[in-house]
Amino acid sequence: MALICIRCYSGYMGMTAPFVRAVMATRLHDMVLTGLAAALGAWIAPLGSPLGGAVAGAVLVTMLRLVMPKGDWLWQGERLAMPPDTRRIAEDNTVLDRLPLPVLLLDAEGQVTFASAEAHTLLARDPVGEPVATVFRAPAILAAVDRVLTEGIDETVEFTALRPRRRYLRATVRSLEGKTRAVLTLADVSEVHRLDAMRMDFVANASHELRTPLAAITGMVETLQGPARDDTANRDRFLGIIGREAARMARLVDDLLSLSRIELQENVVPTAREDLRPIVAEAVSATASLASGNGNVLQVALGDGPLEVRGERDELLQVFYNLISNAIRYGGGDRPIDIMRTEQAEGWLAITVRDHGEGIEPSLVPRLTERFFRVNKRESISRGGTGLGLAIVKHILTRHRGELRISSTVGEGSAFTVRLPRA
Ligand SMILES: Nc1ncnc2c1ncn2[C@@H]1O[C@H](COP(=O)(O)OP(=O)(O)OP(=O)(O)O)[C@@H](O)[C@H]1O
Ligand SMILES: [Mg+2]
Repeated sequence: MALICIRCYSGYMGMTAPFVRAVMATRLHDMVLTGLAAALGAWIAPLGSPLGGAVAGAVLVTMLRLVMPKGDWLWQGERLAMPPDTRRIAEDNTVLDRLPLPVLLLDAEGQVTFASAEAHTLLARDPVGEPVATVFRAPAILAAVDRVLTEGIDETVEFTALRPRRRYLRATVRSLEGKTRAVLTLADVSEVHRLDAMRMDFVANASHELRTPLAAITGMVETLQGPARDDTANRDRFLGIIGREAARMARLVDDLLSLSRIELQENVVPTAREDLRPIVAEAVSATASLASGNGNVLQVALGDGPLEVRGERDELLQVFYNLISNAIRYGGGDRPIDIMRTEQAEGWLAITVRDHGEGIEPSLVPRLTERFFRVNKRESISRGGTGLGLAIVKHILTRHRGELRISSTVGEGSAFTVRLPRA
C-alpha cells in the first residue's frame, strides 16, 4: 500500500505537472502529503483512530524527509511552493554546495548567508549567520568585502588565516545583483607560498655559496697584482688557493645542474633493469683511495641472490658514491665502513652504508637532505663538500620510487639506508 501510494504520487507529479504546481504553490502539497501519510499511518500503525494515524503519518513524513536527500521528489513540493526568488536562490545554493570550491555568499551587511560544503571543511565550522569580520579576522579581507559592497568592484586579496590553523588564503570577492549581495571564493595558497619561500631561499643560498669562493679568488688575484707582485715565495701558494676555490665553484655549478636535471625528470621513472652489485663495486673502487688515505676499510657484504632494480646506472652510482664518501669524510678515520645488504619487506631491496664515527645529533638528522645543509660547514668545505650531495641522493631515490632512511646515534655512528623496489 505504501509503495502504491508513493508510486501514484510520483506518477501524478509527472503527468499533471502544471496542475500539481498550482496546487503546490498554495502549499496544498504539504496537506496532500500529510493526508496520504495519515492514511498510510492509520493503515500501518494499529492505532485505530484517525488522529493517531495522522500523528503517525506526520512522524513518517518527517522521518522520510530526514533520510531522503534534498532534491528528491519529497522536497519538490516544498521547493515549488516557495516564492520564485527564494526558489531560485535555493536552487543556486544547491549548485554552489556541490562545487569543489569554498564559496560564501554575503548579504549587503557583509553577513554570511550561505557557505558551501567545501567552505565548511576549510573553515572547520559553519559560518552562516556570522559577519565576515568574525569569520576571518583579517583587515585585508574586511576592506575588500567593504569595497565590493559599496563600490561594486571585484577584489582579490591574500591574507593569513589563523583559524582553524595558520595558512595563506586567497579570497576573490565579487558583487551580485547590484551591490546587494557578494560572492566570496577561497583558495588555500599556503603551498604556493611555501614553494616561493623555498625558491627564494635556494637562490639566496646558491648565490652565497658561489660568492664565497669568488671573493677568495678575486682577493688572491688583487694580492698577486698588487702587494705580492714580486713575492715569488708566496705566488705558488696563492695560485694553489685560486685553483682550489675555482674547483669548488665548478663542483658547485655541476651539483646545481645535476640537481635541477634530476628534479626535471622526477616524474619519469627509469625503466632499465640494473644490477646494484656492479654499481656498488664501482662506487667502492672510486672511493678506495679516499678511504685508504683516511685509514678506512670498506667492508662490502651484499650476500647472494639478485639485486636488480629499475634504474639509471649513473644516478645510482652517484647515490652510493656520495654515501660512501660521506662516511669516509665525516665518519672518522681509521675505522671500518660497512656497505651491506639489510633485510627488508617483500618487493624491496635495501643497502646500508654504515660508519662508526661520531654520529649526528637527532634533531639535525631530518635536515641532512636539505640543500646546502651541513652539520659543520667549515669541515664540509675543507673536505670539498658543497652540501648538495644528500639532496641529490634524495631526489634520485624519489625518481626511482625509492627512499633514503637515516639513523644515527651520537658516539656510535650513522647508517644511511637506500631502499628501492625490486625489478
Ligand atoms: N656519515 C655521516 N656522518 C656524519 N655527518 C654526515 C654524514 N653524512 C653526511 N653528514 C653531514 O651531512 C652534511 C650534508 O651532506 P651532503 O652529502 O649533502 O653534503 P656534503 O658532503 O657537505 O657536500 P657534497 O656531498 O655535495 O660534496 C655534511 O656536510 C655532514 O655535515
Ligand atoms: Mg656529501
